[in-house]
Amino acid sequence: MGMGSDLGHDLVKKAWELLEDSIIYYGDRPVGTVAARDREVEALNYDQCFVRDFVSSALLFLISGRAEIVRNFLIETLALQSHDKQMDCFNAGQGLMPASFKVESWNGHQHIAADFGEHAIGRVTPVDSCLWWMILLRAYVKATGDIDLAHQPEFQRGIVLILKLCLADRFDMYPTLLVADGAFMIDRRMGVYGHPLEIQALFYAALRAARELLLPGRRGDIYIQVINQRLSVLNYHIREYYWLDLKRLNNIYRYKGEEFGIAAVNKFNIYPDSIPYWLTEWMPERGGYLAGNLGPAQMDFRFFSLGNLMAIICSLASVEECQSIIDLIEQRWHDLIGYMPMKICFPAVEGLEWKILTGCDPKNVPWSYHNGGNWPVLLWTLVAAAQKTGRTELGWKAIEIAERRLAEDEWPEYYDGRNGRLVGKASRKYQTWTVAGYLLAKELMANPDHMKLISFDEDPEMQELLGILSEYRCG
Ligand code: GLC
Repeated sequence: MGMGSDLGHDLVKKAWELLEDSIIYYGDRPVGTVAARDREVEALNYDQCFVRDFVSSALLFLISGRAEIVRNFLIETLALQSHDKQMDCFNAGQGLMPASFKVESWNGHQHIAADFGEHAIGRVTPVDSCLWWMILLRAYVKATGDIDLAHQPEFQRGIVLILKLCLADRFDMYPTLLVADGAFMIDRRMGVYGHPLEIQALFYAALRAARELLLPGRRGDIYIQVINQRLSVLNYHIREYYWLDLKRLNNIYRYKGEEFGIAAVNKFNIYPDSIPYWLTEWMPERGGYLAGNLGPAQMDFRFFSLGNLMAIICSLASVEECQSIIDLIEQRWHDLIGYMPMKICFPAVEGLEWKILTGCDPKNVPWSYHNGGNWPVLLWTLVAAAQKTGRTELGWKAIEIAERRLAEDEWPEYYDGRNGRLVGKASRKYQTWTVAGYLLAKELMANPDHMKLISFDEDPEMQELLGILSEYRCG
């Protein structure tokens, strides 16, 4: 299946070469991969290793027996975590992991310079970095069996710092994580502040990873208890309140507002008039998805791909919901996959909404970049979700579509247009996670056993609590 032909074979060979060329060395140790190697556009920070971008490369290195690179990456980024992050009045909590880093030479000596968001466009805080780091550490342990690395005191300290940052008491009662705009892959203003799905799915996966990585003992056991408690309420909250399908849409459509007290049905005071018109047409008879965000009188009805796909991969969504999300993708294939898997979010925001949500961002005009562009890196998460739900035919189909264009278009960062037919206006070429995403998708299809690096089963610890919660609701 797939391209199985010489062309597919050549593509894979070429992609591996490109990935090899993207590796960054610190001394003679490989420590990461650059974001892009486009010689025609000014590098800005694309010559750095981004934590989120490195994930697809890292999983590939683990699969292909080059765990050393991932080990080096984990050690170096951990060392950055405790750096002083104060600059120009921007400050960050101790557990924060950098968005990106680069190796610099000074006076014949090399050192690693990190960006925690204090240099980034818009000065955005990369909340996802520490979550991906934890997920990657667990993948490394799964691939190598080297739990000793995770059990080292510095690693245990790093894990606890991340947990402290994420689990700290705050002015918010939801179990979800409250973040500012631009805290994850969408690292610009796009109306994704609050409790965006992508962060919640990564948070859930990171907590599950932490539970496996904490060293048993007094401190570890206390954290495991706290994690278990948070995992179950987070899981309940997302499944119960983020879920959207035709039935739920009908309920929301007939919601009453201004309900006070414990028995309120419309707990978040969502007004039916806020249901966008496109959705009443777009929602299929069969299938559904998790909403992009939820807050007081706010439900972001846009479909965000990475959040939904990660929710499948880490079992944040229930088994039935996982199937429904894949059903929806299959039925809205042209909108969500089109000519390049896959759209970062659907639909684009336009007109006045674009002005207000993006702050008139010319890079995020409708159907471009973060605002409804198609990002080939998402291919691997789509394939992983298809693999997890047993819908492998969709995985192959997506790979076949990507193979038609990627090499010819020189591995772009993203595509523009309603169905992703144009190479993105300001897109980099030779974008590493595009290359790695393609290779990883192929590996996950060829050998489903690799799924264990990234996937989580339904949480057994949670079943009991879910039972109690739903009894409480019915009673
Ligand atoms: C852009 C993307 C971000 C990515 C970075 C490097 O800023 O929005 O998600 O990490 O480029 O590729």
